[in-house]
Amino acid sequence: MAKEQSNEEKKLTRLNKFISNAGVTARRKADELIFTGRVTVNMQTVTEPGTKVNPEKDVVKVDGEKVKPQTEFIYVVLFKPRGYVTTTHDEKGRPTVMDLIGLNTRLYPIGRLDYDTDGVLLLTNDGEFSNMMMHPRHKVFKTYFAKLDKPIEEPDMKKLREGIMIDGRPTSRAKVRIIPNTGDQNIWISIHEGRNRQVRRMLETLGYAVQRLKRVEYARIGLDLLKPGEWRYMTEEELYNARKLATPKPPVFRKAEVEPAAEGGEEGAKKVKKGKKGGKKKKKKDKLKKLAQTPIVSDKQPSSGSDVLESISKELEDISERISDNKE
Ligand code: URA
Repeated sequence: MAKEQSNEEKKLTRLNKFISNAGVTARRKADELIFTGRVTVNMQTVTEPGTKVNPEKDVVKVDGEKVKPQTEFIYVVLFKPRGYVTTTHDEKGRPTVMDLIGLNTRLYPIGRLDYDTDGVLLLTNDGEFSNMMMHPRHKVFKTYFAKLDKPIEEPDMKKLREGIMIDGRPTSRAKVRIIPNTGDQNIWISIHEGRNRQVRRMLETLGYAVQRLKRVEYARIGLDLLKPGEWRYMTEEELYNARKLATPKPPVFRKAEVEPAAEGGEEGAKKVKKGKKGGKKKKKKDKLKKLAQTPIVSDKQPSSGSDVLESISKELEDISERISDNKE
């Protein structure tokens, strides 16, 4: 009951904001319209700009003209509990994450969390944003807490970092760290792909069973004070930063790899430089071909991922404490 009430409250918006968001006029002008008695809410004149209205239910009119709410994009952070499926409808009738949200707007999960995995699940009706978050090209990292059935060995950490063969192709680089003082059985792992049951399968391939898996961050957006089953709107700052993380970065090349082909030693290099076999165009084509074949691997990774575990280490410590204290 309490949760239903708070969901209702979350839908409310200030009357002046509703009018300006609908494109009628700027916020200040909306205040004037309201003060001067030109605005009604459900047929009643309202003169207080801060009056809360529900855009889905209340009928707001300015000078007798109905104000149509602009279809707004909605961005939600849900603490998905275990025992829920990440889908809009489950054939087997199991509870779905949609049951927890209760907004009238149709929202879609950004990626999936398994039935047994809990943690951060982002939902939105903004398809472009969803795509930005999920497409591997954008390298948006997700961080998981994983509890294993036995201590992890250093060579396996290395394998996880470098890529594990799943479905016939290697996974992209992962960031992995052992959580201190937990018998080497608990790790943080950050990945930017979203293959089916990816973290579990990566670890299973190396002979570990995952006893607990919790996503603690997606695009650096965490749960904050949410409890399992609760949700909140993403803040503007989170949205801005998530978009920034997903903005493609220029690839970083090692200097030596962008030098012209030097087959045949200095002579060979000169040949390419002089462009004997076809002039400038050929030279440019060769260079582009060489670049295309060069793996985008460097000690310097784009900032969206390389420091992800470092930058949130304090939060991770807090979460580790909570998880190990069984407060979650
Ligand atoms: N990897 C998994 O194995 N499961 C999830 O739910 C998410 C990532």
